[in-house]
Amino acid sequence: MQIDILTLFPAMFLGPFQESILKRAQQQGILLILLHQLRDYAFDRHQMTDDAPYGGGKGMVMKPEPIFNAVESILDGEQAPIILMTPQGQRFDQKAAIELAQYPRLLFICGHYEGVDERVRAHLVTDEYSIGDYVLTGGELAAMVMVDAITRFVPGVLGALESALQDSYVSGLLEGPQYTRPSDFRGWAVPEVLRSGNHAAIAQWQHQQALCRTFRRRPDLFAQMALTEQDRTFIAKIRSNLGEPNAE
Ligand code: ADE
Repeated sequence: MQIDILTLFPAMFLGPFQESILKRAQQQGILLILLHQLRDYAFDRHQMTDDAPYGGGKGMVMKPEPIFNAVESILDGEQAPIILMTPQGQRFDQKAAIELAQYPRLLFICGHYEGVDERVRAHLVTDEYSIGDYVLTGGELAAMVMVDAITRFVPGVLGALESALQDSYVSGLLEGPQYTRPSDFRGWAVPEVLRSGNHAAIAQWQHQQALCRTFRRRPDLFAQMALTEQDRTFIAKIRSNLGEPNAE
């Protein structure tokens, strides 16, 4: 997969993209991430990328010409989703990550200042995404989050073990509790069942913990889940024992 990122601050990406799994994927040639300095596509004398808003108001607006120049030059006629990072975009989630991972190429535009000239949205961009209901200083951190979440679904980016682990999370459940050695830490013991060696009992316990955690912490996710009869019985028991779903 090739990912082009258009930004005024390419150096912001260097740390996150040069470590761990993203570093390995680039070294293996599975992933090509290209950072493009937007200012290089501003052809006026002062290389201006922003200007005052028509109609007055605070702040600056990113000019359309450098963004159009950059995107047209980078894609050079090739098709790819052109994604604008903005707090006004649709909320990015795991489903969007899986869908976007199917493309061989993606282009991200990182917005800054008060916003981007509307003609960029109307006539260039194909998708607008927000990573959450809060305002960041710019789209760079948001683009990093999206690239990380998307590339996990590109075949070969995760090793075999990591991929296998990921499979179990696609269920829509939150992950249940995990433990490692020591079996007793400051008097807090690892649940007996996990040390029992009874694989069926362990699997059932882990599933029920995940159910319980999702029910209590994320009623919105829980409401969308397809439950088995056994799941329903288990949750009914929790409900009657502990009252409200958020009582944990
Ligand atoms: N730019 C500023 N805030 C943002 C957000 N929450 N998501 C995406 N891009 C942004």
